[in-house]
Amino acid sequence: MNDRIEENKLVRILGIETSCDETAAAVLENGATVLSNIVASQANLHARFGGVFPEVASREHIKTIYTVIEDALNNAHLSIDEIDAIAVTRGPGLAGSLVVGMNMAKGLSLASGVPLVGVNHLEGHLYSAWVPLDDPEFKAPQFPAIALIVSGGHTSLVLMEDHLTYKQLGRTLDDAAGEAFDKVARLLELPYPGGPSIQKAAESGNIHAFDFPRAWLDDSWNFSFSGLKTAVLRKLQELHADGRPLRIENVAASFQEAVVDVLFNKTMQAARQHNAGDIIVAGGVSANRALRKAFQEQKEFRVHIPPLRLCTDNAVMIAAAGHYRYINGFKDDLDMDVLPNWRLISMQ
Ligand code: KG4
Ligand code: ZN
Repeated sequence: MNDRIEENKLVRILGIETSCDETAAAVLENGATVLSNIVASQANLHARFGGVFPEVASREHIKTIYTVIEDALNNAHLSIDEIDAIAVTRGPGLAGSLVVGMNMAKGLSLASGVPLVGVNHLEGHLYSAWVPLDDPEFKAPQFPAIALIVSGGHTSLVLMEDHLTYKQLGRTLDDAAGEAFDKVARLLELPYPGGPSIQKAAESGNIHAFDFPRAWLDDSWNFSFSGLKTAVLRKLQELHADGRPLRIENVAASFQEAVVDVLFNKTMQAARQHNAGDIIVAGGVSANRALRKAFQEQKEFRVHIPPLRLCTDNAVMIAAAGHYRYINGFKDDLDMDVLPNWRLISMQ
């Protein structure tokens, strides 16, 4: 731990997140107590495009960022001078969106002298598993842990042997899991974002209605979801050509089952092979009820899945990762730039 940080001193981190279509700011105390959590979602704006429209996203971030940060500080009853570090998402994400949060963070840091800590967005998703929120039974993950990060832009299996230490075991070779949900939702003419729409439709569907393919890619920890998406498209075309009635609930349920099957079983296998006692599931798709249920019902590993409001993009997770970076002595300079394609790399 950083010896410049006095023992027993409260560490308060202001987190700022603008990597995609959520403008978010939060204040986190000692990596555990959420003093404020503001998320301004642009989902409604992007819904008519069926996905995130980058120019619209950055313009919207510019409009809302100031008030979002102001609200986060006000709700925490703190001024910027009472903050120990400003944690900001540096990447990966949309360049034009990342820049808005980064410039705001730099401006605040320059004016107040509060240090900056750049955070990897995926690391943020991982650290959402360290935030108790209001769970009295909460236990922090223990190492070694296998982490499945499943979001709109990423699908990765990561081995964490310590804080800030990541070994990427595998990733998607094509579509991210969330992207597959979004694309299949579009095929089914369900609204954006696709994940929650498919989950809802799947509730009244039959998971055995269609036997969609699973890409196991057995000799690696990688994933692939584009074949599944194409199989759904073909099935829809076939049903249409035959003039057969289509129950989209059945397609949604069978598709969701195929995704959950692969994500769950590969993660379990990775945990076994790496002698991990704990599994972390994080990122937007970890909000999925069927995926959560699969992990929660097994008894082989302790499983950590963040509460729903920390699954999709938020700034509490950025503040949490920023907290661990800060107490371990990591700080960034004002010349830090955004890294839209930044990979998850170990800090230790
Ligand atoms: O982590 P996130 O908010 O943003 C990125 O970093 O990409 O993830 C957004 C993704 C979207 O693709 C969305 O469809 C998916 O998470 N998602 C879900 C659910 N809620 C959000 N996917 C499946 N089931 C859900 N309930
Ligand atoms: Zn995310």
